Amino acid sequence: MKQILLEAEDVKAYYKLGRIFVKAVDGVTLEIFEDEVVGVVGESGCGKTTLSNVLFMNVLKPLILIGGRIVLKVNGVPNEISSLTRDEVKKRFWGKEISIIPQSAMNALMPTIKIESYIKHLAESHRIPEKQLLSKARERFQEVGLDPVWLKRYPFELSGGMKQRAVIAIATILNPKLLIADEPTSALDVVNQKVFLKVLMKLKRHNVIKSILFITHDIATVRQIADRMIIMYAGKIVEISPIEKILERPLHPYSQGLLNSVLTPEPEVKKRGIVVVPGTPPNLIDPPSGCRFHPRCVHVMKICEKEEPILKEIEPGRKVACFLYAEERT
Ligand SMILES: Nc1ncnc2c1ncn2[C@@H]1O[C@H](COP(=O)(O)OP(=O)(O)O)[C@@H](O)[C@H]1O
Ligand code: SF4
Ligand SMILES: [Mg+2]
Repeated sequence: MKQILLEAEDVKAYYKLGRIFVKAVDGVTLEIFEDEVVGVVGESGCGKTTLSNVLFMNVLKPLILIGGRIVLKVNGVPNEISSLTRDEVKKRFWGKEISIIPQSAMNALMPTIKIESYIKHLAESHRIPEKQLLSKARERFQEVGLDPVWLKRYPFELSGGMKQRAVIAIATILNPKLLIADEPTSALDVVNQKVFLKVLMKLKRHNVIKSILFITHDIATVRQIADRMIIMYAGKIVEISPIEKILERPLHPYSQGLLNSVLTPEPEVKKRGIVVVPGTPPNLIDPPSGCRFHPRCVHVMKICEKEEPILKEIEPGRKVACFLYAEERT
């Protein structure tokens, strides 16, 4: 049996803007197992980045953790990180157990700070001798295909692809069990995307990282690397499935729209994996009643406007939140 590395149960995280709440993550339940790659897919604005921050417990105002539990297993021992402060989680688990490549991370590198300064900073905050961590950084740089001399350079001297490899080298320097990567390939050209994915999978093969939560709006990328796929819509998970099963037969009407758009014959759309589901995602301040997808769903029924479908298992390992499958159960 596969061991669970991270577990989220009915997690809700909203942005509080005065008296208004943006329900960006609204009742998310998921597990990430050891030794797997999970792809999270959904249109822009559906809550992917918010989810990645919440699972990492990087919850900063105006984002508030409203409810639910997040449990991180460390050497088999469960730690309820959602009951700790961000600072406690940072001190105890960031970098060592769980690490993140935030969205647009490579552009967040300060142009006037040498790459090695990030390593020195990590050494200081984790109380590891600087020399030891710099030596590890040199090895890791080689592993990601970068000459270690680049450690002494400034980010502006590196190309986009090199910067993103420097980012992953830094994020994985302490061999975290789980790496959350938020759209790490979106700003890269096709060649550098391929290189980055190769590097990512090599780090997993070499046991530098055990599991990956890979967030993207590009299904084509998920197809290449993921064992399971999670589809998000309007702050909720609408489907979770092993990759081969969802590619063969997506269950949720939104997943069907997403996947069909990738299989479309139009070369531009296919190449870029652009989502083509008629209509636009809802406003998360006042989302639609019942099933949040109902205004866009071609299969909408009366019940869909009133009641909310729950995410339930209908085949081993396959979960879907849709009334079309209300009767199905294994
Ligand atoms: N700092 C913020 N303040 C208020 N609303 C935000 C903030 N960041 C994101 N949002 C809103 O939260 C929702 C989810 O955003 P996000 O998690 O970035 O989605 P995704 O990564 O899927 O594009 C969107 O409606 C977005 O406008
Ligand atoms: S619950 Fe209803 S509206 Fe929602 S996806 Fe299923 S059929 Fe469509
Ligand atoms: Mg995002």
